[in-house]
Amino acid sequence: MSSTVAGIFETMAYGPAPETKAPALEWIKAHRGEFGLFIGGEWVAPQAGERFETINPATREVLARVAQADAADVDRAVRAARAALPAWRALSGHARARHLYALARDVQRNARLLAVLESLDNGKSIRETRDIDVPLVARHFYHHAGWAQLLETEFPGYGPVGVVGQIIPWNFPLLMVAWKVAPALAAGNTVVLKPAEFTPLTALCFAEIAERAGLPAGVLNVITGDGRTGAALVQHGDVDKIAFTGSTEVGRIIRKQTAGSGKSLTLELGGKSPFIVFEDADLDSVVEGVVDAIWFNQGQVCCAGSRLLVQEGIAERLLGKLRARMEKLRLGSPLDKAVDMGAIVAPVQLERIRTLVNQGVEEGAKMWQPSWACPTEGYFYPPTLFTDVSPAATIAQVEIFGPVLVSMTFRTPREAVELANNTPYGLAASVWTENINLALDVAPKLKAGVVWVNCTNQFDAASGFGGYRESGFGREGGREGMWAYLKADWEKGVESGESSKPVPSRGAAASAEAEDTTPHSPLPAIDRTPKLFIGGKQVRPDQGYSRQIRSPAGALVGEVGDGNRKDIRNAVEAAQAAAEWGRGAGHTRAQILYYVAENLSARAQEFAARIQAMTGAAADRAQREVEASIARLFTAAAWADKYDGAVHHVPIRGVTLAMNEPVGVIGIVAPEQCPLLGFISLVAPAIAMGNAVVVVPSEAHPLSATDFYGVLETSDVPDGVVNIVTGEKDGLARVLAEHLDVEGLWYFGTATGVRLVEEASAGNMKRTWATHRPRDWFDGRQGEGRAFLRRATEVKNIWIPYGE
Ligand code: NAI
Repeated sequence: MSSTVAGIFETMAYGPAPETKAPALEWIKAHRGEFGLFIGGEWVAPQAGERFETINPATREVLARVAQADAADVDRAVRAARAALPAWRALSGHARARHLYALARDVQRNARLLAVLESLDNGKSIRETRDIDVPLVARHFYHHAGWAQLLETEFPGYGPVGVVGQIIPWNFPLLMVAWKVAPALAAGNTVVLKPAEFTPLTALCFAEIAERAGLPAGVLNVITGDGRTGAALVQHGDVDKIAFTGSTEVGRIIRKQTAGSGKSLTLELGGKSPFIVFEDADLDSVVEGVVDAIWFNQGQVCCAGSRLLVQEGIAERLLGKLRARMEKLRLGSPLDKAVDMGAIVAPVQLERIRTLVNQGVEEGAKMWQPSWACPTEGYFYPPTLFTDVSPAATIAQVEIFGPVLVSMTFRTPREAVELANNTPYGLAASVWTENINLALDVAPKLKAGVVWVNCTNQFDAASGFGGYRESGFGREGGREGMWAYLKADWEKGVESGESSKPVPSRGAAASAEAEDTTPHSPLPAIDRTPKLFIGGKQVRPDQGYSRQIRSPAGALVGEVGDGNRKDIRNAVEAAQAAAEWGRGAGHTRAQILYYVAENLSARAQEFAARIQAMTGAAADRAQREVEASIARLFTAAAWADKYDGAVHHVPIRGVTLAMNEPVGVIGIVAPEQCPLLGFISLVAPAIAMGNAVVVVPSEAHPLSATDFYGVLETSDVPDGVVNIVTGEKDGLARVLAEHLDVEGLWYFGTATGVRLVEEASAGNMKRTWATHRPRDWFDGRQGEGRAFLRRATEVKNIWIPYGE
């Protein structure tokens, strides 16, 4: 290397600029290199005495020994969180805001220690921990101090979920602490947090910071350990909610394990995010964008832009520029302020990357790596580019979670969207073009919770982050994220409802004691041609079987079709074909919902009589149910063009649009009580938000739904938007839960059914809303409103920076 100024000017070569390890090593030394568990405001030893080492992946040196918490330790932590809950929940929003504010301040005060410690334990570069991770952590606590302050006014009628178990991964160890802990505490929950086994140190350091900042004992408990500790937390009976970030594989296990437990669940899982480049994009910016998309944090990023999709005409030029840039990337000691890439977190992750890269080569893709060599003392992997990749190749489908980019080409925007969506994931996407029309046309078509226009990997506490499909459900950050830690007051402490009220079995046998309140006049004629409603048509059930529907006293009131798996499949296909409904104007949907209400109103007498006949309800109660159903249709119509998104205040020059999009096809399994009102209360908001639905109506009292076919037919509801399959409720619910083309499932039934639905839906990680709690469908707080609209929509955050 030349040492003269002129020489340096010529070569632009520069030497290492190491950050000192001292603050982190001193902190570890102050703890004698060994850590316990942080439970109830104290450091305690793990009961079984087991510990494991955490290493610096850039040098393989042991940094410290941490505790392996077992089920008994988890129990101790959950008890501490439970004991701390009443006082923490009872604090005013302002008091909690003061605590969160103190945490933000203390993170800033300890920024250097945290940044260095994170670099040492994880292997990520100091430039990233110092300039991205730690500032975002502080920002998250500040932002959520604000939500704590505003809680009572902005979330009236809601309170904390309770004790929250949080399990986080190793790729953003401290940032994930912030993403999980800040909203949970702001909402008044108490927390048991388990950091990843590879990177426990910053979470422990944060626990200490929180203790010093005066956070009450037990509000935040940090327990270290591997997957066994995580599993014990998930399975603990006294945890009210689990929030998990990590692999889709473990997310799926957790979905199944929590099924039917009543625990609420949010999952932030993997991705295979597309990075789409149109031919008019600014290619030099694109190259820097790619560096940030896939080489940021060595590609160990859930939303890494790992699939480069390039318009054919510019592919060679872009790839040439990219190779030149890769050749200049600096990889080395994470504490060197001048490196672009640090170390891979652990040998197992390095091995996984190597295996997948080898598989890519074996499957015929062309691999390119820069000519320089990686350091050999730690776990490093060079930036890697694959070309000639087929969309079905393993490396194009599987999350590699390393610095490996696969590139493919497309010709038209339509093809780009198809290619982008050709993955089971749906976390993030970036779109690069100078044509704003094109960008904003493409963004809503991408199945992703976040879309970055001409930028990538932007995060902020004010903007929700989270995915669709196998990338999980729930959002973190912003107002959206707060909902995940809140529960409606009316829902608390109510005992199981329908589970204690068995659904009458097939044929609804007469109950000996049931009083026959069936009105004898005016009785609707018995419909002897039972059918289902699919794709806008009344169709016979696949097997041609029917079910008899009887009054509580045993009188036959009608028959309905006995739908099966095939009927549900046909209904889902019809619903999928009706996707246009969600793309149309809210105004149009409102008009149609008003028309439905009008036509129901015209037949109000007949619907009331049917409710009476089926359920034995008194006449005025039945009439009230019809009236309430009409009102509910009006509510849904009112919301159809008013459930606006938001423009978030994020610290970029530009706008971040939070758009509410329909979930897609929603399966609705309606409650047994209120056969008409329960059915309408669910179907109306779902279709108002642009979803198409497949509905299984009340099993015992389905005739209000089958009578509704006529109302739908006369109200201009497009074919396939509402599909109705009558039959055995839980059997049909299972088919809906297992169906990969059903994106959401709402189930109102028994405790057994809730478990079944939650377990079976793990296949495509569909978002479920499954409950067996009784609900007063006549009560506006329980039967309509924003809670329904939130379930009926996904929030997509579109980041659009601007300026020359
Ligand atoms: P992982 O999903 O196993 O670990 C994440 C967290 O879950 C850790 O704290 C772990 O201890 C815990 N855990 C593991 N098994 C558990 C169980 N049965 N119950 C409860 N908690 C459990 O991820 P891992 O093994 O660290 O990485 C494997 C792959 O997962 C990576 O190669 C990457 O592809 C993906 N991954 C994705 C992340 C994302 O943010 N999308 C983050 C981390 C990993």
